[in-house]
Amino acid sequence: MNGLLLDEPPVQAVGEECSLDHYLVQPDETMDARIRAAKRKLGTDAVVLGHHYQRDEVIRFADFTGDSYKLSKAAAESDARTIVFCGVYFMAETADILARPWQQVVLPDLNAGCSMADMAEIGQVEECWELLERLKETAGAGILPLTYMNSAAEIKAFCGERGGLVCTSSNARAAFEWAFARAGKILFLPDQHLGRNTAFAMGIPLSEMVVWDPYQINGGVTPERLRAAKIILWKGHCSVHQRFLPEHVDRVRREEPGMQVVVHPECRWEVCQKADAMGSTERIIETIERAPEGSSFAVGTEIHLVNRLAKRFAPLGKRVITLDESGCLCTTMYRISPQHLAWALENLVEGRVVNRIQVDERVKYWARVALERMLEI
Ligand code: 13P
Ligand code: SF4
Repeated sequence: MNGLLLDEPPVQAVGEECSLDHYLVQPDETMDARIRAAKRKLGTDAVVLGHHYQRDEVIRFADFTGDSYKLSKAAAESDARTIVFCGVYFMAETADILARPWQQVVLPDLNAGCSMADMAEIGQVEECWELLERLKETAGAGILPLTYMNSAAEIKAFCGERGGLVCTSSNARAAFEWAFARAGKILFLPDQHLGRNTAFAMGIPLSEMVVWDPYQINGGVTPERLRAAKIILWKGHCSVHQRFLPEHVDRVRREEPGMQVVVHPECRWEVCQKADAMGSTERIIETIERAPEGSSFAVGTEIHLVNRLAKRFAPLGKRVITLDESGCLCTTMYRISPQHLAWALENLVEGRVVNRIQVDERVKYWARVALERMLEI
């Protein structure tokens, strides 16, 4: 059985289960050496993936960092037996869907969910689809369901089974083009903002988009409007990105002349229209990396990433600030703490798998179809 290094106190006697409560009362900084030691012990048996929104104390231990797309590829290509996902639930589910049969996926805190993903429940989506199919003219035009990566595995499977696919913020346009080559309409789940921003950038006017509200009868949309629409947007949003407002862009324009505004496409359409650029977390980072010395940016995305970029680029003569002065925090990403990571890794060292994410096999099949379609475009 593997043990910890001798100069580091073991959490508990070997063989006893490492209790999470014991870790949660320890200060952050005491976790560093333990995480490092556990990672050393596990070697290539475990890979740690970290989303860009993770806090510094966690992301510094990631073997790979990235946006949702890059991390899903890293998970699909990894040869490690265990994938420890420092991200949120839907990301870990995606890793499990793409993993090979001998691999396992661990999410250090099962409470790290995503409020946007929770806004589309399978029963609601099935109800919506039934109505769309009943509208003969709508079905006649051909309709495909597309879901943002930020959705439950069941929603991904729903799309896969009906000829649709998954997309992320970095390939949404390519996914829309793929769908329009095969059908006249798209049902886009669950982020209305990403759907609207993507379709509008492709030249589809707002008048050809409708919002389906799952809490209203027939989505709150008349059959006529459904028939006329090219895009049916699910009424979901990210509570972090929705906090950025057009007046935040106006303030930057007024107070910081020359500063570029770069936002995530989960922001409202009105904000994206006023911004200089829009892109996934990875794209935001690349935009700043490529900019010449002396450039300055107001960034509309999660605050941990913005703060990290500000720190990283200040010595290179580039200034980065948050678009909203109060800074928007993804509280669910924040749930992955160094204590949770140390707990998950030290249990693995002892041969125990905690917080394993396992998607139901039936769901996995069709969700994988939808994800593989995405990875192919
Ligand atoms: P990215 O794919 O851009 O990293 O976005 C993931 C996410 O959850 C943003 O809210
Ligand atoms: Fe979900 Fe928003 Fe957090 Fe992304 S930032 S994980 S969409 S709640």
